[in-house]
Amino acid sequence: MSVKIHDSRQVREFLEQVSGLDNEQGSPRVKKIIHRVLSDLFRTIDELDITPDEYWAAIAWLNDLGAAGQAGLISPGLGLDHFLDLRLDAIDAQLGIDNPTPRTIEGPLYVSGAPVEQGFARLDDGSDPDGQPLVMHGTVVGADGKPVAGAQVEVWHCDTRGFYSHFDPTGEQKPFNMRRTIIADDQGRYRFRSIVPAGYGVPPGSPTEQLLTALGRHGQRPAHIHFFISAPGHRKLTTQINLAHDPLVNDDFAHATRDGLICQVTERSDQASIKAHDMDGPFGEIEFDFRLTALVDGVDNQVVAQRRRANG
Ligand code: DHB
Ligand code: FE
Repeated sequence: MSVKIHDSRQVREFLEQVSGLDNEQGSPRVKKIIHRVLSDLFRTIDELDITPDEYWAAIAWLNDLGAAGQAGLISPGLGLDHFLDLRLDAIDAQLGIDNPTPRTIEGPLYVSGAPVEQGFARLDDGSDPDGQPLVMHGTVVGADGKPVAGAQVEVWHCDTRGFYSHFDPTGEQKPFNMRRTIIADDQGRYRFRSIVPAGYGVPPGSPTEQLLTALGRHGQRPAHIHFFISAPGHRKLTTQINLAHDPLVNDDFAHATRDGLICQVTERSDQASIKAHDMDGPFGEIEFDFRLTALVDGVDNQVVAQRRRANG
């Protein structure tokens, strides 16, 4: 039996009441948002004839998701993080701002408080036996096209098992392994040594994976390295590079891969390269410059201040 009641006067008044639109207290903004979201949900229940069993299965899933702390994991999987990026891109297009280095999603696994190093940092602690040594380096370039001395490069990535420190289910990694803040030198150059990360997968059996499976999707990301780049007079850039050799480079469940962010790891085994980068044997090299954009009327019009992140 199919019934449609969401557009009745009784339900419309009920929606206003549950959203607090018939009282003077609370936050007008929250009321407006909740009213819209609830209205759309009531309508969806009506139009798709969602059964009580389906509804309560969704509530149980939300409880599981929250208990596992995974709201921030399914959010990119459902494309919301990328959608927010597309909106920022559209706002920039309207303002006539070009982003030479594209932004892309932060993901849920940043931790503040990483050790700060000048010019160069070693990110890994040498304990991952499968790690292929990696050197990544480049220049932070300002809106005027000139290198930005002292720019801040925050970098984080996972190990060869796909685990991030602070979120490692085996507990094996020390705090801040593969997480550093590098202050670029007087020519805007940054450089780090680490290991080539593997791809990442959402926790097996988790509520996040359950929903993706129901959608016929996987929960895998290609190998990638995250960055926040900041400097006075410029907007903070949130981005990642994705490694070209990973078969999933264009099949990312979190939709973070973008043109302009795909990097080759170049194998170096010649003595000159090994010496130039102070390495002890063959390594992979990535060279990548980050191009920042200017503040808009003196402010960063896109910085995300409210996000609650883990603290190290
Ligand atoms: C997720 C994990 C990541 O490492 C990332 O960069 C983005 C999303 C996730 O589990 O949702
Ligand atoms: Fe990640």
